[in-house]
Amino acid sequence: MILLTSALFFVLGHVMSQTPDNDRINCYPEKGAVPLQTACVSERGCTWANDTDHPKVPICHYPADYGYEVTSKTRTVHGYRVQLRWKTGQSCAFSTPVQTVTLDVEHQTNNRLRFKFYDQSSPRYEVPMDMPGPDTAASPEYEVGIPDSGLFYINVTRRDTGTVIWDSSFGGFTFADQFLQISTKLPSRYVYGFGEHEHATFHHDLNWRTWGMLTRDESPGPPVQETAADGTMYDVERNNYGVHPFYMAMEEDGNAHGVLLLNSNPQDVTFQPKPALTFRTIGGVLDFYMFLGPSPEEVVQQYTQAIGRPFMPPYWSLGFQLCRYGYKNLEHIQNVVDSMRNYNIPQDVQYADIDYMERQLDFTLDHTNFHGLPAYFRQLQDEGMKTIIILDPAISKNETNYPAWDRGVQMDVWIKNEDQSGPAYGKVWPEYADEFLPGKMENASWDFQVENYRSLVGFPDFLKPSTHDWWHEQIVDFYNDPTEGIRFDGIWIDMNEPANFIPGNYDPTTNSGKCGNNIWNNPDYTPWVMGDLYSKTICMDAHQEGTDGTTYKHYDVHNLYGWSQTPTTLRSARVATGKRSIVVTRSTFPGSGKSGGHWLGDNTSKWDHLHKSIIGMLEFNLFGIPYIGADICGFWGEPDREMCWRWMQLGAFYPYSRNHNQKDVIAEQDPSAWGPEFAEASRAVLLTRYRLLPYLYTLFYEAHTKGSTVVRPLLHEFRTDRNAWTVDRQFLWGPALLISPVLEQGATSVTAYMPDARWFDYYTDSEVSSSSRGSNVTIPCDMDCIPLHVRGGYVIPTQEPATNTKTSRQNKFEILVVLNDDESAEGRLFWDDGESADTIESGDYLLLELRANAGGFTTIVTHKGYQPDSTTTIGSLKVLGLKSTVGEVKLNGVSTSRYTYRQNVLHITGMNIDLAASHEIRWSKTTSAAVHLIPARWQLLFVFAVLCALLT
Ligand code: GLC
Repeated sequence: MILLTSALFFVLGHVMSQTPDNDRINCYPEKGAVPLQTACVSERGCTWANDTDHPKVPICHYPADYGYEVTSKTRTVHGYRVQLRWKTGQSCAFSTPVQTVTLDVEHQTNNRLRFKFYDQSSPRYEVPMDMPGPDTAASPEYEVGIPDSGLFYINVTRRDTGTVIWDSSFGGFTFADQFLQISTKLPSRYVYGFGEHEHATFHHDLNWRTWGMLTRDESPGPPVQETAADGTMYDVERNNYGVHPFYMAMEEDGNAHGVLLLNSNPQDVTFQPKPALTFRTIGGVLDFYMFLGPSPEEVVQQYTQAIGRPFMPPYWSLGFQLCRYGYKNLEHIQNVVDSMRNYNIPQDVQYADIDYMERQLDFTLDHTNFHGLPAYFRQLQDEGMKTIIILDPAISKNETNYPAWDRGVQMDVWIKNEDQSGPAYGKVWPEYADEFLPGKMENASWDFQVENYRSLVGFPDFLKPSTHDWWHEQIVDFYNDPTEGIRFDGIWIDMNEPANFIPGNYDPTTNSGKCGNNIWNNPDYTPWVMGDLYSKTICMDAHQEGTDGTTYKHYDVHNLYGWSQTPTTLRSARVATGKRSIVVTRSTFPGSGKSGGHWLGDNTSKWDHLHKSIIGMLEFNLFGIPYIGADICGFWGEPDREMCWRWMQLGAFYPYSRNHNQKDVIAEQDPSAWGPEFAEASRAVLLTRYRLLPYLYTLFYEAHTKGSTVVRPLLHEFRTDRNAWTVDRQFLWGPALLISPVLEQGATSVTAYMPDARWFDYYTDSEVSSSSRGSNVTIPCDMDCIPLHVRGGYVIPTQEPATNTKTSRQNKFEILVVLNDDESAEGRLFWDDGESADTIESGDYLLLELRANAGGFTTIVTHKGYQPDSTTTIGSLKVLGLKSTVGEVKLNGVSTSRYTYRQNVLHITGMNIDLAASHEIRWSKTTSAAVHLIPARWQLLFVFAVLCALLT
C-alpha cells in the first residue's frame, strides 16, 4: 500500500502540493477555463492540488522550478546580459516557447532600472516609443540579483533599506511567442495603478483579482458576465478606453517604487494575496522599467521623465466647460449659454458634440440645425469664451464629394485588412444619407440598425506619417473654411480605441463584422478582456504601417491607436489656431499625457461614480495625465438633483471640469437647468475654483516641468502615515489644498481624514484643532458645503474670480499664506499670457517664489519673461497661523495701516503691488494684547492717546 501511494505520487508527479495557497500561480489562467487534472499535469507541466477550500486559489499551478535556466551572464557597459534557456522537456500551455531568451539589465540612472527580455535571434514587435537610454548610474539605489546558473529568477533590492521590491523566484516564467508571463512578489499590500478600469478603491484589492488591458469603447461599470466552458457564469472586469501597464507600490517603511511594463499587446495582470502580481501579455517583449522614488511623488516624476511630461494646458482650459450629446440645434446651445449667463455661473468653454456635423461626418456642418454655429462660436470667442469640437477617427466611405474620404484614399491613410487588398472597414457613425434609407425601422434593434443603416468607415492609420499630413490638412482646412468650418480653440478626440460597432472588419455576406480564424484574432490565450479581442473593434490581423516601411499587425498596436492620434491632433490644432490649444482624448497609453488630457468616459448618473471618479483621477495622475476629469452629473441616465448638485461641487475640483451628458437623457443637467438655488450653489463653488486657478495653473507648470502630480493622493504627501495609504474619498490639489467632498445621498456631514499637519478651514480661516491630526474628523456639511482645508507650510496664489478666465485673469491676486508649526511657508506662482504656445520653452513667463515666516513675506521674481496687464497686481495678502500679534506692517519698507489682525489672521488689503517685481512685506509684533483687537488704522491713535494720558 505504501509502495502504491508513493508510486502514484511519482507517476502523476505533482499531485500533492507543498506550495502555500498564496504562492500558487495559476496554470489555468484563461477566461472561463475548467481545469482538468490530467491536462494540468501532463499537458501543462503543472501541479494539481485540490487541497484548498478557498475558491480562488488555483488548483492547477506552476511548480516553483518552472521556467528558464541561466546559461550565461556577462557584464555589459550598463549592467548585464543574461542568456536563458527554456528547460528541456517542459510543457507550455499556450503558443510556442522561445527556446533562448536574452535578458538585458540596464542600470539607466541611479533611480531607473530597465530589464528587458527578448529574442535575440528573431526580432519581435517593440513599442515604437522614444524612451530614454541609459545615463550614468554611479551609485544606483537598487541592486539586481540573478543567479549565475540554474533556475532563472530576477530580484531587485532597494540598496539602503534592503527591501526586496521585485522577486520573480516563484515559477511560471514563460516567454512563448504569444504568451509571456512573469510573476513577482510585492513588498507590501499597497499597490496602485494599472488601467484603464474603474476600480472600487485606489489601492488594489489583492484577493485574486485579474484586470485585462485592451483599449475598448466600454463604459465604466461593474464586471460583466461571460459563460465558462462548463456553462457556468464568471465575471470579467471591464477593460476601458486606455491601457496603462504601470503600477506604484508602497514598501512597508513608506518608500515607494513604480514599474512600467512597456508592452502594447493585449494583456492582463493578476493580483494575489501573497502579496504578488503576475503579468501576462500575448506579444512583444517583456520590457520593464523600474523607478525607485523613493517618495511616491518622485516615482511619478521619474516615470514621466521616461515617458514624457504632461503638456501645459492653456489657462482657459482650467475654466468650467459645458457639453452635451444631443443638442438639437444652435438655439439649444444658445439657450444653455444664455441661461448660464443669466445665473452668472462661470463658464469658459462651450462644446459641440457630433450633433454639429452633417450625419456625424467629420469636417462637415449640419446646415439645417447648426447653420449659424460657426458665427456663434466666433461671437462667443469675441466675448471671451472658448470652443471645443469633437472629431471621431472613423471616416465614411459611402459619400460623394467628401474630401476627408477622397483625400484619405489618395494619401493612402487607411488601416488595411490582412491581405492589404483594401481598408479594414467597420461601422460606427454615420448612417447612410436619408435617401438611401427608405422604410427605415426606427425601433429595430441596435445591431440591426448598425448593420443595415450605417455607412462603411475606414480607420486612419495614425502610425503612418502620411496620415498625419492628411489629418492636418483636414483639420486646418475645416478651421479655415468660411462656410463649413468652425474656429475651434481645442479638439476632443473620441472613439479612438478604435471603436467599431460591428465585431471585426466588415463582411458583405453578413453585413456585420468578421475576422479570420487565426492566431491573431483567436490566439491560444485571450487575456481577461471583454469578449473576443476584436469585439467592438477591427480585426487583430489588420495591417498598419509605421515610418520607414515598418509594418505592424493591429494585434501589436491596437492599444496605441489613441496614443498615435493625440500628438498629431495637438500639432494640427496649434497650427490651425496659432495658439497653445488642447486635445482631450478618450484612449490613452503611457506618454499620452504629453499631448492630451482625458475624461473618464461614459459614466453613469449614479452616486457611486462620484467616488470612482476620484479614484480614476488619482490613477491618471500616476499615469502622467493630470488633465483629467469625469463627466460631471454623469453621462448615461437621468441625473438626480441632489447627486448632480454634489457632483458639481466635486467636479469643480477636477482639473478638467466638464459637465456632459448623453443624447437620450431628457433632462438638461447643466448647472443652470435646476433653478436658482442649484445655480447659486454651482456658481459659488465654481467661483471658488476660479479663485484658486493661479494655484492650479502653477501645479500644471510643475507637472509640465517636473512631472509632479496635480491631483494628489494623500499618501503622496504623507507617505509614512499608513492611514493615508488607503484614503481615496479625499484628494489634494498639489501639496496644499485638501478637498473632502460629499459623496453620499442625504449626507449632511463628511468624515475627513486630517493627516499630521497644520490645517485651516479655507472658508473661515480657523485652525483645525491639533488634536485632530492623524485622525478622522466629522465636518457638518449642508448643501452649500464642500470642505476645503489649506495646509500649513504653503503659500497659495489666488485671484479674485470672475465668470470666465479672460476676465478673472485681469483681476487682482490675493496671496494666501498658511504657516506651519514653525511659522514658515513657501509656494510659487507661474504666470504667462495663458494661451501662447510654448511660453515655457521660449521663456515668456513670470515665475515667482513666495516665502513667508513669522515676521514677513517676500515675493522673489526668479524669471521675468512676461509683464502682466497693469490691473493684474497683488491686491491682498492673508496670513493664517501667526502665533503672535501684529502691531505694524511695512510694505517694501513703508508702513501701511491697511490691514486687520483678528484671531491670528493678518489680512493686508489695498496693496496693488506689481506682480512682476520682488517685494518684501514685514510685520512686527506688539507687546500689548489690547492693541491688536483694535483695527489697524486706529492703533496709532490709541498709542498716541495712551502716551498723552501718561504725560498729563
Ligand atoms: C461617445 C463619447 C461621448 C460622446 C458620444 C457622442 O460615447 O464617449 O462623450 O458624447 O460618443 O459623440
